[in-house]
Amino acid sequence: MSKIYDIAIIGGGIIGSSIAHFLSERGYKVAVIEKGRIASEASKAAAGLLGVQAEWDEYDPLFDMARKSRRMFKGLSEKLREKTGIDIGYEEKGIYRIAKSDEAAEKLLQIMKWQQQTGEESHFLSGAALREKEPNVSQSIVGAAYYPTDGHVIAPELARAFAHSAAISGAEIYEQTEVLDIQMEHNRVTGVVTSEGMISSDKVIIASGAWSTKLLRHFDKSWGTYPVKGELLSVKSYKPLLTIPVFEDGFYIVPKRGGRYVIGATVKPHTYNKAVYAESIQYLMERAIGILPGLKEAEWETAWAGLRPQSQHSVPYMGKHPDIQGLYSCTGHYRNGILLSPISGEYMADLLEEKQTNSLLDSLTRREGLAFKN
Ligand code: FAD
Ligand code: GLY
Repeated sequence: MSKIYDIAIIGGGIIGSSIAHFLSERGYKVAVIEKGRIASEASKAAAGLLGVQAEWDEYDPLFDMARKSRRMFKGLSEKLREKTGIDIGYEEKGIYRIAKSDEAAEKLLQIMKWQQQTGEESHFLSGAALREKEPNVSQSIVGAAYYPTDGHVIAPELARAFAHSAAISGAEIYEQTEVLDIQMEHNRVTGVVTSEGMISSDKVIIASGAWSTKLLRHFDKSWGTYPVKGELLSVKSYKPLLTIPVFEDGFYIVPKRGGRYVIGATVKPHTYNKAVYAESIQYLMERAIGILPGLKEAEWETAWAGLRPQSQHSVPYMGKHPDIQGLYSCTGHYRNGILLSPISGEYMADLLEEKQTNSLLDSLTRREGLAFKN
């Protein structure tokens, strides 16, 4: 199995697949090594929200990366459909962030204010104005911020489309192949040791989601990722109940094509157990029906869980090892890895080509004391 690649990417989630897409398109010989199947973990579970404004309560430099990433989706969705035949279900009609009290509405107005100062559009709607647009929303909602440029995609389709695109451009995808360690000689990467043998490469990128800790130790022993489990469910309704997603402090209802409503998600740190519990279903359904009473008559479809990869430093580890030549990491995207996938792929490709001058990410990693050579 010891073929020689320019770059070996550890992990075939949306982040590894996006990096593979961008690097393969630039002519590099790439291997993606995945212990299960492509898009079988967090990237399969995600609701697919592109919630730049919905998810950021306070400004940080990642907000700027997120909005740059959001702008890449339109072109990407067309390009990926043309190249791979996969429709990523891109919807760009906006997201409502709702408030159930005057206090919550006041907080929304404050968030809207700083976001507007960065140039991002938003509109405050009273409860009545919201119900004019969305007549099925409960009377208990007193107002909403409408973010017209937020949107959503079908997350696993995007991850698969990235991987297919990479393969069409020459990448090799190794599924059911676990990376056991990174191989080095004299502070220089030479490849990866896998469950199926050695794969040689000049560069290695760690993109292993919630399983990255052991590999990240090559950077620093304080680095690591841990899982934050999220449980979701979906129901179906022939009646159109909602046109765009509603979001409320980490909870959301996302109308998907074909009358599906994805409802999520719980937040349970430090467990790799992906069981879905009855009390989580009760919590999610009660909260959803409280916002959209018509969901009572929707038909049950399914429930699932996934593991958000959170970094020990609460910012994604995206960069180049300061001393080990050829070692990179790109993981720890926590709640927003789908949204951040295009910019992460492009950023890593630029970094490998030494074209990268992302002072935003530099300031973020410096703030957290992360020793990268970006
Ligand atoms: P993963 O998709 O977990 O991929 C990592 C891969 O690495 C896995 O497939 C794993 O098998 C593989 N791997 C690990 N170790 C090894 C090894 N040693 N050798 C080989 N392979 C290995 N984000 C959004 O932007 N919008 C959303 O609406 C959204 N909703 C979410 C809802 C839930 C319930 C969850 C759980 C997440 C959600 N996210 C969302 C977050 C998003 O899903 C993640 O940030 C993103 O999927 C992370 O991608 P990844 O490629 O880093 O991780
Ligand atoms: N971003 C949605 C979630 O992580 O649940």
